[in-house]
Amino acid sequence: MKIVVIGGTGLIGSKLVPKLREHGHEVIAAAPNTGVDTITGEGLGEALKGASVVVDVSNAPDWGDAAVLKFFETSTRNLLAFEAAAGVRHHVALSVVGTERMLESGYFRAKIAQEDLIKTSSIPHSIVRATQFYEFVKGIADFSTDGNKVHLPPVLIQPMAADDVASAVGQVAMGHL
Ligand SMILES: NC(=O)c1ccc[n+]([C@@H]2O[C@H](COP(=O)([O-])OP(=O)(O)OC[C@H]3O[C@@H](n4cnc5c(N)ncnc54)[C@H](OP(=O)(O)O)[C@@H]3O)[C@@H](O)[C@H]2O)c1
Repeated sequence: MKIVVIGGTGLIGSKLVPKLREHGHEVIAAAPNTGVDTITGEGLGEALKGASVVVDVSNAPDWGDAAVLKFFETSTRNLLAFEAAAGVRHHVALSVVGTERMLESGYFRAKIAQEDLIKTSSIPHSIVRATQFYEFVKGIADFSTDGNKVHLPPVLIQPMAADDVASAVGQVAMGHL
């Protein structure tokens, strides 16, 4: 199969692309630095030509409330429109466990908007939800720190290794799960 990985150069994407290739699939790692931009549409038509599956593991460059919502809405709308035109048969997206319970966060409102656009599209889809990656724990600590204070919610989390997340997304993309 031809599989296009949107965000194929990111943390999850760069682990996912070789896993899919190991199974003999033709895989395009799509990202702005490989000439494919889901916001402008640049390179999308060419990348999706002949593709059976698109996996979206992209992420927004700016997590401000308005910017992140605009990113996931624009990117997902463009992607689904190009996929319909190209005859893509399966759209797989990576989201976050508990997204619908964290709507006070602009980031999670944007992820719900992404999920809703996918669910209402005509393209068969799978939404894979992962918990926070171990690799993201330093990021959580950094943005929770204000001077010499660290603000953290009193909740337990069960992080996952990015490599395990990439494996699970790959299994879904290949139709094994
Ligand atoms: N962090 C967590 O703990 C966690 C937990 C569960 C789910 N998730 C989800 O996992 C997904 C992947 O996260 P990640 O940490 O692997 O992301 P990441 O490392 O930040 O990678 C993001 C990727 O998206 C690409 N990208 C950015 N703008 C794009 C555009 N306009 N068109 C096409 N590609 C674009 C980037 O390309 P460039 O490098 O060229 O900009 C990069 O390849 C996200 O959707 C996130 O919501 C994250």
